[in-house]
Amino acid sequence: MAYSDNYERDAYGIIAFWLRNDYDHGRFFDREISHYETELARANLNNVHRLGKIWEKAAKKEGDIGTLINEAKYATNEFHSLLAYTMDKSLHCEVIISTPVSLLDHMVREAEESQRVFKLMESGTKITPSDAIVHESVFWLRQMADHLGYIRHYLDLSNYDLNYQVTQMMEKFERLMMQANALQTMIRTPRNETLPILTQFKNMIIKEAKSLEAFKLELDDLVKKCAAATTSPPDLLEHIAREAHHLWRNLEEEIIT
Ligand SMILES: [Fe+2]
Ligand SMILES: [Fe+2]
Repeated sequence: MAYSDNYERDAYGIIAFWLRNDYDHGRFFDREISHYETELARANLNNVHRLGKIWEKAAKKEGDIGTLINEAKYATNEFHSLLAYTMDKSLHCEVIISTPVSLLDHMVREAEESQRVFKLMESGTKITPSDAIVHESVFWLRQMADHLGYIRHYLDLSNYDLNYQVTQMMEKFERLMMQANALQTMIRTPRNETLPILTQFKNMIIKEAKSLEAFKLELDDLVKKCAAATTSPPDLLEHIAREAHHLWRNLEEEIIT
């Protein structure tokens, strides 16, 4: 699991995580834009290029962190606009792409989450452990359920048993997401203490996210060896494994990053 071994958790590493996330989204999206949509393809590639450069800087820990956050915010904002604009076009059936609307929305929400994280980094706002657990669970469990839906979307129909397994896992994560939503409204703000119910939920999610990460990496290996019939981008599974990893790391540390 090379990506976990060198996954940095300092400020530069967190910016690199989010920029790489958008950079990957742009590359994946590039595969799904029709050749009729030359303008969209060009605009998307410009974003990929810009995001990749900032990711590289962050990964190399180059330059002042304040400047880097500003650059990250600007590039993320531009990419967010392109995705949100395309999503609206798609809802009006005015664009030829093979990306599902919900997947565009998934990427839009991750861009928005990264903007929240950048703001928190800038302001240095302290989040209580309880607020962090609730936020991370509510945000990421929906993403985790989505990921399983997209694995199924790309998997060839002929993988009957694997499709069935993935559907069951997706339904499990949908239930966990509902539980996170319930805890969010039951445990009212200000959340100055961490209730045993929330700690128990957190521990369960850490365990589930770890096994989801392992499952994604197993499948990643098959996809990269071309041993599974799928139209998934080759490194999509690694991308979403990284997000599962990010979720359980944040839950363990009880922080939002
Ligand atoms: Fe992502
Ligand atoms: Fe995701």
